[in-house]
Amino acid sequence: MLSRRIPELDRPNAWTLALEAARAAGRAPADLTVSDPVRAGLGGLDAAGRAALASAAVARHDPDPRGQPEARAAIAAELAAEGCTVDPGDLVLTASTSESYAHLFRALCDPGDVVLAAQPGYPLFEPLARLEGVVLGHWRLAWDGRWHVDEGALDAAFEAHRGRVRALLVVQAAAPTGACLDAREREAIVARCAAHGCALVSDEVFRPFPRPGHGPLPTFLGESRVPTVVLDGLSKRCGVPQLKLGWMALSGPPYMGGFHGVSPASQLLGVWPTSVRRELVEDRIEVRVLHTLESP
Ligand SMILES: Cc1ncc(COP(=O)(O)O)c(C=O)c1O
Repeated sequence: MLSRRIPELDRPNAWTLALEAARAAGRAPADLTVSDPVRAGLGGLDAAGRAALASAAVARHDPDPRGQPEARAAIAAELAAEGCTVDPGDLVLTASTSESYAHLFRALCDPGDVVLAAQPGYPLFEPLARLEGVVLGHWRLAWDGRWHVDEGALDAAFEAHRGRVRALLVVQAAAPTGACLDAREREAIVARCAAHGCALVSDEVFRPFPRPGHGPLPTFLGESRVPTVVLDGLSKRCGVPQLKLGWMALSGPPYMGGFHGVSPASQLLGVWPTSVRRELVEDRIEVRVLHTLESP
């Protein structure tokens, strides 16, 4: 009855069954798989953040296919404060990073086309790709005391899907491994995208959280040699998963004008969210929440 794009809902795994049994027996084991910072007592909106969300501007409807210009300008200003130059005109707002992936897969791929991602890697790629009729191909990360890109495995993955790869996905810093690309690996990634004529999609939702003792993680923002989309959003920056604002920063060679066709495509489908308000970002609730996270 349902399409093959809908992931099969398997029976709960052994761990889930054990947890349910423990809870049914009145025990409350510590659940170390909780990944919601608010539930873990680490994030949340303070009164000022909640007040920003209650602004009268919420009632206004000013549709713009890329999201409100004021919000895009505020995000560009936030990125500039981190040393990254992004033109607000190259930003497209979405309701979440997951939604960004869905739009991108649809914009870049025809059904059956391939996006490549590292393994081990972010588990949601599989259902996100499948829902859009896209095939997820893998290349294996190598481990020798740290995770790194195995260029041979990457080339083999391109070869296995010759002519069908539309995007190479990287997550910086990677979930769940924490792997970070070094300069040589970033060059290898860009070279493969250029050689195979595919887009580079860099998920940088964890970039603002450098490892202790290290500087800010490098970014693909502004990469001009290949069509590039950098994904980011508030849910990780603020530690508030329900704060739904994601953004895509587009860059690349001038000839990729058509790639900015993400936006006309979205106009056609009417899919971009238009209710994102500038107060949300301008009031810098994300900064306040991060302060909350940092305070003892
Ligand atoms: C690497 C990575 N990208 C994207 C997301 C999804 O973020 P959002 O809440 O903006 O959909 C997650 C969520 O855990 C993530 O770990």
